[in-house]
Order: sequence, then structure tokens, then C-alpha cells
Amino acid sequence: MKILNIGSLNIDHVYRVDHVVAPGETLSSTELNLFCGGKGLNQSIAAARAGTQVWHAGKIGNDGAMLVSSLRECGVHTDLIQVSDGIPTGHAIIQVDRHGQNCIIVHGGANTSITPEDIDGFLSHFSAGDIFLTQNEISSLPYALEQAKKKGMLVALNPSPIGDLASSPALDWVDIFILNEVEGLQITGESNPQEICTALLRRYPRCKVMLTLGKSGCLYAEEGRRTSHGIYDTAAVDTTAAGDTFVGYFLSGLCLGNSIEDILTTASKASAIAVSRAGASVSIPDRQEVASADIHLISRG
Ligand code: RIB
Repeated sequence: MKILNIGSLNIDHVYRVDHVVAPGETLSSTELNLFCGGKGLNQSIAAARAGTQVWHAGKIGNDGAMLVSSLRECGVHTDLIQVSDGIPTGHAIIQVDRHGQNCIIVHGGANTSITPEDIDGFLSHFSAGDIFLTQNEISSLPYALEQAKKKGMLVALNPSPIGDLASSPALDWVDIFILNEVEGLQITGESNPQEICTALLRRYPRCKVMLTLGKSGCLYAEEGRRTSHGIYDTAAVDTTAAGDTFVGYFLSGLCLGNSIEDILTTASKASAIAVSRAGASVSIPDRQEVASADIHLISRG
């Protein structure tokens, strides 16, 4: 089983600030770093570092070669990435405050030049039983979900950033939702984690739900089963890509046929390690590091 991720590729401009800038305020940053990012790229790298064969498909501009190199170095297949002439690579402006919390502005750039024809081309290399992963940072997303499902692929969606996707009929094509509470609230209208899962399973009865809950851990749900897990103790340096790390490790665990308990443990540890480091994709650990990490569960979830 292999993973096709049609996902975003961004250059992250990460500014260290005391606090997130307020309306009307001008704020000096103490540090600026450029990192490889994009929810798509981060999730491909996480799944590859977790031990799965991943193909990343998407679009960059002429300025995006560093993103392809970084994916390749992590073992992600990059032959399906195209260069969109005249449209710059997507980028993000990220503020990280003194507590490691972030806020992000994304400019889609080449990620938003993906057409239905591009989607058909990407999907033509995959078949029934392969996993299709995507997020809400590319164009032609509803078409991609529908075509992947019609092909018999297992369709996994991280509906982030949620936007108009919350009410899209294209969610009907999804087999696995990997989402946080905010996205869960916007899709279902429920704020309680158990109620979010109940509402999603009622609306999409055959789906699996992986709900991440920040400091409260995570909750997995499918028909007839619920499993929760807590978080691990690490000092937060930068929370960017913690959610992406979880997504990649979770899907990789499913691909490898691991038990849900094992998958939740490994994905939660990997995310905790990512939070303890600066940057997006550079903060994602590989599976050896996760397996040998000396970190402790501080909440039971
Ligand atoms: O989830 C973190 C990512 O969101 C960043 O890397 C940024 O590029 C945005 O896509």
C-alpha cells in the first residue's frame, strides 16, 4: 500500500516575536528563518519518516526547488511535482511567540494553479487500495476527493484550513477525517469531542475519525469503537507542523497495519518531539528517534 499526497508546498517565513502582533501595532521580530513547509509537504515528510512509501504531487513556482530537494532528502518520491511557470511558490508568514504558539497567513501561489486535468494525471499512477491524502491548501480539491474515491483509493482528508470546506458535499467522498476540534466544530456544529465524533459518524457512517485535541490529546472513533490517548511532556518551542506530524504518522501507521493503540502512541510522541523544535518539516522526527524517545505521558486523554 502506498500514499499519494496531492498537497501544498510552501516556503515558510518564520518570525520570532514576543507576542502575536495586534491590530494597528508595529512589532519588531528578533529572528527570521526560512523553512520548507506547507501542510502537504510536512505531512508527506512525516509519513515518509514514519516508514511509508509516499508520492507527493503538487505545484511550485520557479523559486521552489528547495522544497523538492527537502522532500527527496526525506525519501519522498517527487516525480509528480510540477513547476507552474509565472506563478510563484506558495508561502506562509508565521509568527511564533515566546510560548512557542504560532499564527499563520498562507498565500497559495502555485498550489492554487492545480487543475482537474492535473489531478487526473496524478491519480493515473495509483490504483484501488492505495491511500489518497490531501488538505485544504490546493485548488480542485473537491474534484480530487471524488476522483480518488471513484478509483477505489482510501481517501484521507485533513480539512485544514477549514474555510468553506466545512459545508462542502465533497466531504461525502472521505473515508478518514484527521482534524482538530476547531475543524470538527465547523463541520458538525458540536464542540464536545465525543459529540463531534458522534455527529461525523452519523453523517458519514463508514468513515474513521481521528480528532486531535491539543493539550487534551486525541480521540479516535469509528463505528463501534472509541480510543483516546494523552500527550507527552516536552517544552514547546514551536507548535508549527505538530498537527502535520500527527497526520503523517497516523496514516503511515494505518498503512503498516499497526494497531490503533500503537498508532496513537507513536503519532502523539512524534508530535511532541516536533513541538520541541523550531520550524515546520525540519522539526519532524524519524521513526527511530520516536521509538527511542525518553518522554513521558502527562495526560491520559
Ligand atoms: O501546518 C503548518 C503549515 O501550515 C506551515 O508549514 C505553513 O506553510 C502552512 O501551510
